[in-house]
Amino acid sequence: MKTGLGVFIVAAVALGSSWCGFVLAPTLQLGGAKLATVLNSTDTYPTQRTGDATLGLQIYRANGCAACHTEQVRQDGVACEVLLTGLGKNQPEEFKKFVQSLLPLPEWQHHSKELTAAFKDWNGTLPQVVLGKTDKESADKMADLLKAAGCKSETRIYAFGTDIARGWGVRRSVAADFLYDNPVQLGSLRAGPDLANIGVRLADANVQLQHLYAPQSVAKNSTMPAFRYLFEIRKIGSTPSPDAVTLPKEFAPAAGCEVVPKTEAKQLVAYLLSLRANVPLYEAPFTPVISAKP
Ligand code: HEC
Repeated sequence: MKTGLGVFIVAAVALGSSWCGFVLAPTLQLGGAKLATVLNSTDTYPTQRTGDATLGLQIYRANGCAACHTEQVRQDGVACEVLLTGLGKNQPEEFKKFVQSLLPLPEWQHHSKELTAAFKDWNGTLPQVVLGKTDKESADKMADLLKAAGCKSETRIYAFGTDIARGWGVRRSVAADFLYDNPVQLGSLRAGPDLANIGVRLADANVQLQHLYAPQSVAKNSTMPAFRYLFEIRKIGSTPSPDAVTLPKEFAPAAGCEVVPKTEAKQLVAYLLSLRANVPLYEAPFTPVISAKP
């Protein structure tokens, strides 16, 4: 009897703590998640998907796309960079001298290589990076110096990391990105590229359709399976379908036939185009556009 109670207590604690860890804690943290506000704007994020794109999420799920693709961009950190956006009354040569004058100063010594490289062959084109990948303190100091010298500058925050260097996104993925996803399909294997921002990277619906029908017609040597059953090959009637996919010769159907996407393919592409994780948020900041004008 004693052991029975012991087993029961141990089992209850083990199951109870995992329920707290896997169900309760995430629900408390994210269950009440609301729309996020885009940094320096009154816009909210994310926007609700269209009906087609919402159905497309289920097509993505049904076809196992998440087995080969992730929807999560990682970052190693954020840094500041200072861009020179206006020279004021200075000439480029004068500015170069000004930079030279900074080099011996103790606070800029550890930036001296970078500063020398940045202005070695510079011919006055703007915007020009003065300091890249630096901390806020140095960025502010440099901005003050540039202002005192009568120049205009802009300090930019940006995220960096291997995923971002590959062009998969501009910042890390955060919970808000998945607010309208049901289910959330983070994925864990990257046989293909990350798709968190594919709607921005590959915004052409026709290319998306062509890629789904014949991946190798878009990316030579692609190992992605072709999803031909999402398309219909049919005889061209009196007028060709406006939806017909344009294909290079070697992938085109027999003469007199055309490849027309089924509703599922169109919904899937609508979903892919809705994947646009490209706005700055409080928890993942970056400076979106450089407002620099020479
Ligand atoms: C067996 C693995 C596999 C599956 C399953 C798969 N893909 Fe891919 N996918 C790849 C590979 C590999 C690439 C890179 C080569 C290329 O662009 O075709 C890729 C590329 C892509 C690209 C282009 C990405 C870019 O950055 O250019 C998109 C979009 C895409 N896949 C969507 C899908 C969708 C939607 C599905 C489900 C219908 C799917 N994939 C299923 C392996 C896969």
